[in-house]
Amino acid sequence: MDPLARFLADRAQARTAEDPCANLCVAATVDADGEPQARTLVLRELDTTSGTRLAIFCNETSPKWREMSNSSRIALSVFLPSSNLQYRLQCTTVPIPVETVHESWQLRPDAPKRLDWFYTLTMPQSAPIESRDLLLMKCAGLELPDPLIAPETARGLYVIPEVIEKLDLNQPDGIHDRRLYQRRGEGWIEKFLVP
Ligand SMILES: Cc1cc2nc3c(=O)[nH]c(=O)nc-3n(C[C@H](O)[C@H](O)[C@H](O)COP(=O)(O)O)c2cc1C
Repeated sequence: MDPLARFLADRAQARTAEDPCANLCVAATVDADGEPQARTLVLRELDTTSGTRLAIFCNETSPKWREMSNSSRIALSVFLPSSNLQYRLQCTTVPIPVETVHESWQLRPDAPKRLDWFYTLTMPQSAPIESRDLLLMKCAGLELPDPLIAPETARGLYVIPEVIEKLDLNQPDGIHDRRLYQRRGEGWIEKFLVP
């Protein structure tokens, strides 16, 4: 069986169940000081000529962009409470073409669009700022392009799972079902892990 197809099917089911985590992941990286970092991101599914691809979007000014794109490796964790499933994915990354990023950026709500321009014109994402009032004032005072287009710092990465671990908590005997899948050529090999 294809664990990636299973993952997509489980997410689709979670969306049907209105699971608040259905479209989310926690992305872990190692920062420039060698410290582990983790944060919640939207894990998107993009329809491409080579099928459905997993994708994340962020801003290049954020430290995580360097962490994710420099190493080309990222670890994602997805928990779907509606179905009691956990997936852990070890992924390589590939930059999403600029045109696709810019098209997708247009679908963002107004406030995140404005913030993306703030990161570009004023201060990088994750930089310390004196106060929230100052942030709001500077955001409101931004001169945005008309028509509103994505700044060059808007970025996206396709994430390509190379290793998938699925933990299924739905066992009547209470012993969880934990399996590891590793890519081998066109397919996957499956191993059972002690849960
Ligand atoms: C539900 C949720 C979804 C989020 N989605 C994204 C996202 O898709 N892209 C993003 O850059 N940050 C997203 N964030 C914010 C990140 O978790 C994080 O706070 C921000 O990107 C700064 O992280 P950094 O300092 O590691 O760069 C999201 C946060 C939450 C709570």
